[in-house]
Amino acid sequence: MKPYRLLYPMRTYLIVSGRREEANVMAADWVTIVSARPFMVGVAVAPGRVTHGLIRKYGEFVVSVPSLEMLDDVWVVGTKHGPKKLGETSITLVPSKVVGTPGIKEALANLECRVIDGRDYGDHTWFVGEVVGSSYREEAFPDDSPNLEANFLAHASWTDFVTFGRRIYRPGP
Ligand SMILES: Cc1cc2nc3c(=O)[nH]c(=O)nc-3n(C[C@H](O)[C@H](O)[C@H](O)COP(=O)(O)O)c2cc1C
Repeated sequence: MKPYRLLYPMRTYLIVSGRREEANVMAADWVTIVSARPFMVGVAVAPGRVTHGLIRKYGEFVVSVPSLEMLDDVWVVGTKHGPKKLGETSITLVPSKVVGTPGIKEALANLECRVIDGRDYGDHTWFVGEVVGSSYREEAFPDDSPNLEANFLAHASWTDFVTFGRRIYRPGP
């Protein structure tokens, strides 16, 4: 048992890095909000990843929010290395609003980040990015909240993924 599995299930995201023909995508579970104002997110990326070098090179990354429908592509980008793997997926890269790193057309949302810090902790680098642009599918986030029918993807264990149930629970009597 890997002790970090005790924090699972976790959401799964896609990290886009690089530009033009260098543009690359990897899967990442270890993503979180770091600050609301300014809005900042962090991601832990192991130094061996092609993504790691591209984030260092361009000082940017895009966090894309996949749906369950993208699972096969999530698996390809989460198990293979470098931009060539994108040819094995149906991922369409589209220009971002603010940063030079593209976003993913099929994603539920794309958060465009400029790196403000990159620090090594153990065997990963924690990249913190300020979110300088974003786009999302209206039907996935109506009224400022997620629509669970959009099938947000979460990761249970290495090969096992889940999505959220439709039932809503509210605290209190
Ligand atoms: C669901 C899933 C989640 C992952 N989460 C992370 C993560 O948070 N950080 C990380 O460095 N690698 C993570 N990985 C591994 C990378 O996605 C994988 O090594 C990928 O092939 C790296 O691609 P690249 O070398 O093209 O950058 C994850 C893989 C999967 C399948």
